[in-house]
Amino acid sequence: MTQIFTIAIDGPAGAGKGTLARRLADHYRLNLLDTGLTYRAVAHALLQVGLPLDNVSAAETAARQVDLARLDRTVLSAHAVGEAASRVAVFPTVRRILVEKQRDFARTPPGAVLDGRDIGTVVCPDANIKLYVTASAEVRARRRLAEIESIGGTADFAEILADIQRRDERDMGRADSPLKPAADAHLLDTSEMAIEAAFLAAMTIIDDALAKRNKA
Ligand code: DC
Repeated sequence: MTQIFTIAIDGPAGAGKGTLARRLADHYRLNLLDTGLTYRAVAHALLQVGLPLDNVSAAETAARQVDLARLDRTVLSAHAVGEAASRVAVFPTVRRILVEKQRDFARTPPGAVLDGRDIGTVVCPDANIKLYVTASAEVRARRRLAEIESIGGTADFAEILADIQRRDERDMGRADSPLKPAADAHLLDTSEMAIEAAFLAAMTIIDDALAKRNKA
């Protein structure tokens, strides 16, 4: 039987989990899925045709049409799409459709790194490694501001912070699959840690688990 290896990465928006997931997928030669893009794709489909984000049946149809091989990060990475994604993500039926696709992806050899909000708790509860990557809301807001400024944009720190706090509240407060660390997740607080240090810390955790697995 082919052994599948799964790394689940969860955490709030802007904590650095996307970069970490990419680095780990490269290093361990695993497939990579940013599950946030699947919720963004649903939100984007509704926004494009001007449908309200609480139109559940339209959101379900859009969710069924999501093709994991055709998620366009350039289109979906817009800030407004992320905000809208967080709104459609509260609907259990939409989640069920997307989670099925995410599980199929995770089952594909040789396995995958998946990042999102409910990977360790719901999508892949049996993942070999679970990481919960977090950082204070202030640090995440400062990083986002620096990112915007680095491409010549301007933004207001207080507005970004309020935005992040609102998104955290919605993602952590929803009834279905709220953002929270799995009981067996390793916590990585990147508030005072560069992404390289977070990558090294994650590698230590993963290599330990691999060594134990090979000994067993
Ligand atoms: O990670 P992101 O910012 O691209 O995610 C956008 C929104 O999608 C996020 O605010 C909540 C939702 N989401 C979710 O509910 N579950 C996931 N596994 C991933 C994202």
